[in-house]
Amino acid sequence: MKNRRLGILIAVALMLVGASAFLLLRTHPQQDEMAGIVFDAQKGFPSPKEITIRNITKEEVTYALLASGSKAKPEVKKLAPGAIDRVRAVDTMIVTYEKYGREVSYSLYPGKPYSFRFDSSGKIDIWQGSHGREDAEDLAPFVPTPPEVVAKMFELAKADKDSVIYDIGCGDGRIVIYAAKTFGARGVGIDIDPERIKESKENAKKEGVEKLVKFLLEDATKTDISAATIVTTYLLPESNELLRPKFERELKPGTIIVTHNYIIPGWEGKEIDSATLTDASGTEHTVFLYKK
Ligand SMILES: C[S@@+](CC[C@H](N)C(=O)[O-])C[C@H]1O[C@@H](n2cnc3c(N)ncnc32)[C@H](O)[C@@H]1O
Repeated sequence: MKNRRLGILIAVALMLVGASAFLLLRTHPQQDEMAGIVFDAQKGFPSPKEITIRNITKEEVTYALLASGSKAKPEVKKLAPGAIDRVRAVDTMIVTYEKYGREVSYSLYPGKPYSFRFDSSGKIDIWQGSHGREDAEDLAPFVPTPPEVVAKMFELAKADKDSVIYDIGCGDGRIVIYAAKTFGARGVGIDIDPERIKESKENAKKEGVEKLVKFLLEDATKTDISAATIVTTYLLPESNELLRPKFERELKPGTIIVTHNYIIPGWEGKEIDSATLTDASGTEHTVFLYKK
């Protein structure tokens, strides 16, 4: 009899434990219900994570994607020119594609934008992008121009206090801030990345030139740049090529365009000067000067 009562008590206790576990799991979703969600420790709340892959080339790109460490068969995908693949990613993804007749693989990290572009030998390669927005061009990832190269760009452009500088994809604002500090010139920096615009405004304030410069959070391909006397770019060649019709349409005759490292394809006849220099780390840079 005693044993029977004990058995019933144990059974009831087990049922209670089971029922509480069931309720707990309903209010706190199980792991697989949260697939694609990563807890952002800094912000303290869950934020969706994804990887974007944009095809900036003029060809369809075939590639395979697989979560890092997974033994599953990789998913083979095709991306049309101009298209963007948005991939839910909780962990590093491995992208594999063909380059120089053999398969190459790279790690892609959640929260980051990537782009298929042509490399300097005209082969398709994957690069870090600037953003994953569908409604804006990705002109180049953020890589700042070293100070000595900025100085050379303005030396070639013969900037003075009457110059009006437009920097297409302004990054941390250094180009227009330099011109404002050095010549008292006015400038407009345009960037698609809110972090960069915030940083540019802070930097202008720190340097005491916030009255001379303006920073716009925009897709620079849509900004009116007709007030410029000097336009600066540090963008990839396909982006300079994309901007060329805009330069032809909007810029006044005589406007100077200075590019860092990359030419403006199709404007060979408008190139009036260039200079090559080495920065403090020993890296070589070229500056190209065009006159509209
Ligand atoms: C290579 S960085 C150049 C930064 C700066 N001009 C310099 O030389 O130090 C290119 C910048 O272009 C920005 N960018 C990319 N696509 C853009 C777009 N559609 N409109 C405006 N800015 C863009 C990126 O966010 C990045 O800050």
